Amino acid sequence: MKFQDAVEEIINRLSIVDVVSEYVTLKRQGSNYVGLCPFHNEKTGSFMVSEGKKIYKCFGCGKGGNAITFLKDYLNISYREAVITLAKKANIEIEDDYSSSKQYKEIEEKKKKLYELHKDVANAYYKVLYSDKGKEGLAYLRNRKLSDATIKKFGLGFAPNEYGYMYNLMKEKGYDDVLLFESKLFRLYNDKPIDAFYNRVMFPLVDIYKHVIGFQSRTLDPNAKEQKYVNSLDSIIFHKKSFLYAMNYAYYSKENYYILCEGNMDAITMHQAGFDNAVASMGTAFNENQMFLLKRKPKKVYLCQDTDDAGVKAIINSNKILKSAGIETYVLDLNPVKDADEFINKYGAEAFRKKSNDPIPTLLFIVSSLKKKYKLEDPYEQEKYINEIVTLLADIDNSFVRDNYLKKVAIQENLDTGRLTNLVNKYLKGNTIKVDKELFKRTSEAENEKNELMHAEKSKIDSSFIYLIFLLKDYRDKIKSEVSTDELINEDYRYIYSLYLEGLDISDIYTKLEELDDAKKNRITEIINQNYNYDEENTEKLIESINLIIRQIKIRRAKAESNDSLDSIYELNNKILEINKKKYI
Ligand code: GTP
Ligand code: MN
Repeated sequence: MKFQDAVEEIINRLSIVDVVSEYVTLKRQGSNYVGLCPFHNEKTGSFMVSEGKKIYKCFGCGKGGNAITFLKDYLNISYREAVITLAKKANIEIEDDYSSSKQYKEIEEKKKKLYELHKDVANAYYKVLYSDKGKEGLAYLRNRKLSDATIKKFGLGFAPNEYGYMYNLMKEKGYDDVLLFESKLFRLYNDKPIDAFYNRVMFPLVDIYKHVIGFQSRTLDPNAKEQKYVNSLDSIIFHKKSFLYAMNYAYYSKENYYILCEGNMDAITMHQAGFDNAVASMGTAFNENQMFLLKRKPKKVYLCQDTDDAGVKAIINSNKILKSAGIETYVLDLNPVKDADEFINKYGAEAFRKKSNDPIPTLLFIVSSLKKKYKLEDPYEQEKYINEIVTLLADIDNSFVRDNYLKKVAIQENLDTGRLTNLVNKYLKGNTIKVDKELFKRTSEAENEKNELMHAEKSKIDSSFIYLIFLLKDYRDKIKSEVSTDELINEDYRYIYSLYLEGLDISDIYTKLEELDDAKKNRITEIINQNYNYDEENTEKLIESINLIIRQIKIRRAKAESNDSLDSIYELNNKILEINKKKYI
């Protein structure tokens, strides 16, 4: 059949409900079907599919069309690719296409059989996991805090400790040796066929069309001498270099960014925590092929690699590749822990959500990592460090963006903004740059600016606190038990708070003012006359607000007590999470 005729035939022959429901859950509603629209974010279904009219239409975002345009938009493939894919489904041969050549058909046939085999193998490993032979594997995954739902979602399984278990099973199912060996899931050992994987937890590798194309396996033994992870070898359906783990879900995520991590356990844990946009490069350095996978549906990428030196290198490298493809990147810094899996298990999904709401611009992350790379006591190293910063900044084409970053870098690195600007400008003009000492001096101005900002923030907490407590006089005892006088940072606030704790009201404080010297009288009057936009009638809201303020006071103290060591940062993070969980009043 000619291509043009095939288009019509596909639409006539195929059920649009069949096509769509492979990707979207549909419910019958009268003569139509309804579901959540895959093209925009919604909570109630306004995506309608009509079997009779052979069309779909979303009343939320307006998208609509037939089975072919659905597949084209959903998989983000070309119109031609969509037609060819659906033609196969409808058993239609397109004459004027390579896909009808003999050679192509043979390869496709073999691929199809390999997909089937992999799917059967994955199902069998999954079954083993929940059987007697898989006990250890299941215990291992439970210990890593994976739920049954997550295990099912990713089809995790267990390869039992028997050399030919899967081989025999697949032979029984009728697969022939040629195909079995071509899959690379089996090999010969002393002329006997054995499984490539045994006594390992199995992670099926699934492409965006939901084909199982290979496996990653992990040993259970933390002290194992053999490799921790072993992957399927490349085959005609699996190319490790062009694969991203969990892309079969992330591709369809409605988030406007991907999260890129290294380990598949990291990706799985993120998905379990509600981040359906996470993918893993599976330990390989992120490469161009993987970039093209992301680029099929281009979105921002949040780099979330391990926090060790290799991870920082991976961030720099993947940023380079993504940037040259025009993809915007940010960093999720997981310090003080090693990877996303550890982060979520230690601090929880909420903490990770917060992090992802405030990702670090990659340039600022890279600049801050330079301090570890260079020994800054050494003037030569200082020079290299500044050179690298200048190069990074000069690399930004847009001068507005560049200036903006320059200021941020200067503040972050305690460099003199004016001098850094000069260096970057010189560099841009092609002149060699000379680093002078003055650049490093924390100018007293910058220092003051920083201090002022910090002070203003701190006293804002105190003044809101003072304002709120007089509106919550019935809660005096509770407030007293949570916040002691010396936790307020300035003497005037402490004075007012002590009077409040004695049971005084604002009007009593006015009479007290007469006892004070003029300067203090003015300061106190200013404080108690301040006005905030709180709804004074709404006690519930006021209580909510004072809880927020008390939390900030407690966090401020926790921060003051901690230092820069990793243990301390870890403890502080835990403390802050605890503080934020509680209601005090
Ligand atoms: P867990 O120890 O299970 O938490 O793994 P991880 O994700 O923390 O491991 P790591 O950071 O050591 O490795 C990240 C990824 O690199 C893994 O998911 C694997 O895909 C890959 N990888 C790690 N070790 C090996 C190995 O020994 N061989 C191979 N081929 N890949 C590995
Ligand atoms: Mn890990």
